[in-house]
Amino acid sequence: MSTACASDPIAQFQQWLRDGAECGLKEPTAMALATADAAGRPDVRMLLLKGVDERGFVFFTNLESSKAADLRANPHAALCFYWMPLGRQVRVRGAVEPVSDAEADAYFATRARLSQLGAWASRQSRPMNGYYELETEVAKVALRFPFGDIPRPPHWSGYRLVPDEIEFWTEKPFRRHERVLHTRTAGGWQPQWLFP
Ligand SMILES: Cc1cc2nc3c(=O)[nH]c(=O)nc-3n(C[C@H](O)[C@H](O)[C@H](O)COP(=O)(O)O)c2cc1C
Repeated sequence: MSTACASDPIAQFQQWLRDGAECGLKEPTAMALATADAAGRPDVRMLLLKGVDERGFVFFTNLESSKAADLRANPHAALCFYWMPLGRQVRVRGAVEPVSDAEADAYFATRARLSQLGAWASRQSRPMNGYYELETEVAKVALRFPFGDIPRPPHWSGYRLVPDEIEFWTEKPFRRHERVLHTRTAGGWQPQWLFP
């Protein structure tokens, strides 16, 4: 059986992520996150995947950003990963839910201090007068938190995309690519070959 047609798509994804990390990519966890607003208008941007297990795919961001506004209006999203050296793509679709405060706190605590200050300083997706304004905000929060642990900002947390579809795509010669779509059913994950 093809590797793409394994019975556990989460385990399969975790293996492909390890393969991506081993093939020298700078950001093997980079993924496109597609959302849509209340009017159904789509948007897409790159994020880093920060966790994946049977519960879903986790990412962190600013809760006042455009993507967060989209997810409040329409808590469904899609992810797309592409590991070019491996000729592999994975697409994921599902509902999105907030992670717990404890999960967000635990991840925030692992971030570099300057990244933590950046999370406090950035009003992500909102207009800024110039780059100096970000640097001014970073300087202000550095004075606010000169020593010790930096708490997680209230406007910064994570989401978990709970997959109901995961599709594995493998590049093959002459565009005879392999595609296997796994759909979540009451009885577990159901694989289905698709024409490329
Ligand atoms: C490789 C890469 C990884 C990124 N990772 C994140 C991330 O994990 N979280 C995040 O909020 N933004 C991340 N960004 C920035 C987003 O692409 C985007 O500019 C930002 O989140 C604002 O998006 P929005 O206005 O649609 O909310 C990343 C950008 C790139 C290119």
